[in-house]
Amino acid sequence: MASALSLSLALLSATLFLASAPATDASRPSRGLGSVCRHTDYPTLCQSALGRRQHVDPISATAASVKALMAKTAQARAYAQRLITSGRVYGMGKGNLKVCKENYSDALANLATSLKNLHSRAHADLLSNLSAVGTDIDTCDDGYKETPGLRSPMVNYQKNLSKMASNCLALATAVKKGH
Ligand SMILES: *[C@@H]1O[C@H](CO)[C@@H](O)[C@H](O)[C@H]1NC(C)=O
Ligand SMILES: *[C@@H]1O[C@H](CO)[C@@H](O)[C@H](O)[C@H]1NC(C)=O
Ligand SMILES: *[C@@H]1O[C@H](CO)[C@@H](O)[C@H](O)[C@H]1NC(C)=O
Repeated sequence: MASALSLSLALLSATLFLASAPATDASRPSRGLGSVCRHTDYPTLCQSALGRRQHVDPISATAASVKALMAKTAQARAYAQRLITSGRVYGMGKGNLKVCKENYSDALANLATSLKNLHSRAHADLLSNLSAVGTDIDTCDDGYKETPGLRSPMVNYQKNLSKMASNCLALATAVKKGH
């Protein structure tokens, strides 16, 4: 009787030990959505780009955020085009918008290449193509920064695109680390 009790106590403590084991691992990166976005500078924006899916590995998270950035960049390019043809923007302002539009087109091409790089696991190419995307996007702002008094009509897009590009690069970097 006594030995049966001590046996069941031993089993109980073994069970408790096993049950507590995952808790001590909680600080390790899990495969959950939150932990993937935790590697980025803008985790809230990262999560909204990934949607509601709960368990996303770094590769599919990178693919999803690249696709979300493609959609936003296409929107920004369409908006720049509408402004160019609206007749409400002229001179330097119009020139800057054309630069934005061209560079958004280049960003879209580089994003498409990034997806290919991701699927073929060409990690160095992936990082350099995503860096080029960041440069393309920030180039839109440069013309306005260099012209005092000229306000960018793209500013609302610009901030999001720039942050999303930063997140894509952070997620792509985590792919290599195996997080
Ligand atoms: C991006 O903008 C710059 C002007 O700042 C321009 O010289 C360059 O050709 C543009 N890049 C592309 C790919 O259109
Ligand atoms: C993008 O990736 C391709 C390979 O798919 C590579 O040839 C090219 O050099 C990369 N572009 C940049 C800007 O790094
Ligand atoms: C930028 O992102 C914020 C937050 O997700 C969103 O509320 C806003 O509508 C976005 N702006 C544009 C122009 O997409």
